Amino acid sequence: MNAGNNTRVIHHGISFAEDTGTVMPPIFPTSTFAHGNQAGFDYTRSGNPNFRILDAVLASLEGCEHATVFSSGVSAITAVVSQLKQGDLVLCEENLYGCTVRLFEQVFAKFGLRTEWVDFTKPDALAAIRSKKPAMVWLESPTNPLLKVIDLQAVCAVTELLGIPVVVDNTFATALVQRPLELGATLSLTSTTKYINGHSDALGGAVCTNDSEWHQKMVFSQKALGLQPSPFDCWLITRGIKTLPLRLKQQMANAAALADQLATHPKVNWVRYPHRRDHPQHAVALQQMAAGGAIVTVSFNASQEETYALCKCLRWFTMAESLGGIESLICHPATMTHAAVSAEVKAKLGIDDGLVRFSVGCEDLEDLQADLQQALRLLA
Ligand SMILES: Cc1ncc(COP(=O)(O)O)c(C=O)c1O
Repeated sequence: MNAGNNTRVIHHGISFAEDTGTVMPPIFPTSTFAHGNQAGFDYTRSGNPNFRILDAVLASLEGCEHATVFSSGVSAITAVVSQLKQGDLVLCEENLYGCTVRLFEQVFAKFGLRTEWVDFTKPDALAAIRSKKPAMVWLESPTNPLLKVIDLQAVCAVTELLGIPVVVDNTFATALVQRPLELGATLSLTSTTKYINGHSDALGGAVCTNDSEWHQKMVFSQKALGLQPSPFDCWLITRGIKTLPLRLKQQMANAAALADQLATHPKVNWVRYPHRRDHPQHAVALQQMAAGGAIVTVSFNASQEETYALCKCLRWFTMAESLGGIESLICHPATMTHAAVSAEVKAKLGIDDGLVRFSVGCEDLEDLQADLQQALRLLA
């Protein structure tokens, strides 16, 4: 029977405690298991009931065969990249999450992995796949913080012919908004720290796939590299995901309204929100995203100091890194997430001093709107 999204995230199916009738799954805080147990567990680094329960919910939501959980989004990225070998080339979207860039350039480069960076919103990117024949293509859509939307189906149509695996970091969208595997990707990767858990109280990551070989590779990486999550974090995330559709609905409605409010302000150069008509890849966003998500990025016509002061004077938006929780956050990439990025790269990516990223929460819209209005007076 095909259940809807609310039902899938609430009913996790397995609890590994069927004889107790427990409605919520227990936590299994054990490092080891008695040899020869029925469920086949041996040691938590290579598997634990709480991992399996969360795996099952994530695979169900993504509509795929396999999910493997990790201790963070970065662990999930490490698990995938560790399957490549010396000399392999990864063709990456140029606006990837900063820690993904750091992993490629400062860690895996030392082991002979090569990366090239292209703008996947440009047709040249498809030609680059054909000519360079990379070992892997690494995408993120929408991207952080500029919310570029990449035509995943168009990229995957090219890679499929060449047998090149495609990874899509789906953290900003979640499977509720975008299903990379249905668009042709090999792996859909998520930091479950963000929307999936939704309460900013646990870290986690996951890789979803329909490819059983890749699934085996992920299970191997979890064990061999020690990238496993804690049973407690899995339990928290299993609890958090139960309200994902409800939370995201409110967050996305708030985000769309705030994007419209910001767009009318004279000191705003532009607003990025994937389902707004003025988004540069609006048509692709409508096609591949069921909704616009809950992140809004804005470019203010303001100096670094003015923008920073605006961020600081908001009452309901905490100035903090991360995103996807029920609470609204604001991030000033120039002084926070991208502070270590060179001025040249920031200019190339379009990250200027007036750029701000809102992670919109579940608060009452009227409160968020009033808060923004009082803060925008600073720029008048
Ligand atoms: C798009 C994206 N991918 C991956 C990560 C890494 O996730 P984690 O912090 O859970 O390691 C983040 C974190 O902000 C992210 O924004």
